[in-house]
Amino acid sequence: MIPILSLLSLFALSTTGTFGAPTEAATIAGQCQSIPLLRRNPSPYDIGRLGALAKRQRDNVILKYGGQTKQRRSTGYNSIVDQQFDSSYYGTLAIGTPAESFDVILDTGSSDLWVTGSSCGTACGTSATLNPSSSSTFQNLTTPFSIKYGSGNAEGYLGQDVVQMAGFSVSNQSFAVVDLVSDGLLTSPMSGLLGLAWSSLAKSQQTPFWQTLAASNAWDSPLFAVQLTRYSNASNAKTPEPGGVLNMGTCYTNSSLYTGSIEYIDIPGTPSYWYLPLDSLTVQGNSITITSGTTAAIDTGTTNIGGPASSIQAIYANIPDSQPATGEWEGYYTYPCSTTVNVELSFGESTWSISPADFAFSRITSTSTECLGAFFELTTDTDPAWIIGDAFLKNVYSVFRYNPASVGFANLSSVAIAENGVGGTVPSATIGAVSATVVSTSTAPRSYALSTSLSALFLTFSAIILL
Ligand SMILES: *[C@@H]1O[C@H](CO)[C@@H](O)[C@H](O)[C@H]1NC(C)=O
Ligand SMILES: *[C@@H]1O[C@H](CO)[C@@H](O)[C@H](O)[C@H]1NC(C)=O
Ligand SMILES: *[C@@H]1O[C@H](CO)[C@@H](O)[C@H](O)[C@H]1NC(C)=O
Ligand SMILES: *[C@@H]1O[C@H](CO)[C@@H](O)[C@H](O)[C@H]1NC(C)=O
Ligand SMILES: *[C@@H]1O[C@H](CO)[C@@H](O)[C@H](O)[C@H]1NC(C)=O
Repeated sequence: MIPILSLLSLFALSTTGTFGAPTEAATIAGQCQSIPLLRRNPSPYDIGRLGALAKRQRDNVILKYGGQTKQRRSTGYNSIVDQQFDSSYYGTLAIGTPAESFDVILDTGSSDLWVTGSSCGTACGTSATLNPSSSSTFQNLTTPFSIKYGSGNAEGYLGQDVVQMAGFSVSNQSFAVVDLVSDGLLTSPMSGLLGLAWSSLAKSQQTPFWQTLAASNAWDSPLFAVQLTRYSNASNAKTPEPGGVLNMGTCYTNSSLYTGSIEYIDIPGTPSYWYLPLDSLTVQGNSITITSGTTAAIDTGTTNIGGPASSIQAIYANIPDSQPATGEWEGYYTYPCSTTVNVELSFGESTWSISPADFAFSRITSTSTECLGAFFELTTDTDPAWIIGDAFLKNVYSVFRYNPASVGFANLSSVAIAENGVGGTVPSATIGAVSATVVSTSTAPRSYALSTSLSALFLTFSAIILL
């Protein structure tokens, strides 16, 4: 039996380096296609001539239709913050008139937006809270709201107001004002959670912010993309640290963050979670048997990776001297930190590696030579049988596409990799200028309800939808 004393004891490893200089980002309008970008040396003569021609044609079109030059913003980004050594990642949005900003967990594993209300008082900690009566545009929908996650509950009522993020605004977005939150669900400065999965999962039965934007063609391309940083193996990592970026409406604005092609895999069936068939998994090069047709939810709101007990046991059977952890870590396994564990996952044709640094979730105490592995046993009675959290997502550039409904992965660029573990300025909560505003479509019909019993630790923010 192994006593497990501390939760986030970190590796004491040294690191040096600075942020890599950003390379020039290529911007291409339209759909994100699976093609690598190449830069050519342009002939100055051609560029000048084509530029003049293009401007003339555009001026003519504007004249002909009597229109004005449209300044509609169709892509935007939000800087992410890495909280507690890769345990959670949050971004910033703004609510109300005048707009007030809130830090919210970015969660592709659920579909509701909620923030703590001022009526919550000290129970909601020291984070910013929303005071509905100080927003001139707030409307009380007076519908009770409650949601249960793997790690706690949130309760309150539904309201509607202007919600802004990444340069986009939805003028009547429904969300929950929460006045009861389980202990430990939020840590300062987080005030709530932004669900980035599909409307059929929404406990509030409201259309999620991202889905309203995608469905209203507010974006250049109907997708958002996420890059997450790794600080778990950095010496002197603080909390918070810069966490990466959430791009809305494009994956090309920051093509400097990935290389090669984006490999898309369609969501099989009705989208609810962002789920994909998990085709294969290897540990130290050995294949683990995966039940055919098993799906995996791609979940930025979960720290680690959960799967069926039989598969998790098979993973650790390939790691000498590993054993089931006990007590509060039941469902997890320990193994010697000196073992470098390589895991690869395949979705569709492509295979993606998980860095050994992400497999080594934590030392069990700061001086122990035993580590806790990132893969844990998940007991769900329905698909998705796997929850693929940040331990995987830190290793890829992830694209969440509305139409066709799919998830894409690409290799991170050296620019993105250079952001891992090197410190820097944590993005502050700011409300960017809004240049595209849309209205929310009417309330989302609940196509079906999912019932899961996700009980594992560190399954941070996968919603449990109760019938
Ligand atoms: C952290 O892990 C990454 C990926 O395995 C590795 O490239 C990097 O060198 C590690 N950092 C430290 C400080 O060991
Ligand atoms: C693109 O990524 C680079 C490197 O992280 C960053 O410096 C730059 O601000 C990003 N640009 C956008 C538009 O996100
Ligand atoms: C909104 O309605 C709920 C339920 O009727 C109520 O508990 C809450 O106090 C109201 N909030 C405001 C700001 O009026
Ligand atoms: C990602 O990088 C690996 C290793 O360099 C390479 O084998 C693989 O083909 C790349 N995948 C894509 C989709 O570019
Ligand atoms: C938002 O406003 C539009 C236009 O006023 C209306 O059609 C739509 O039903 C509203 N959406 C919600 C969720 O109330």
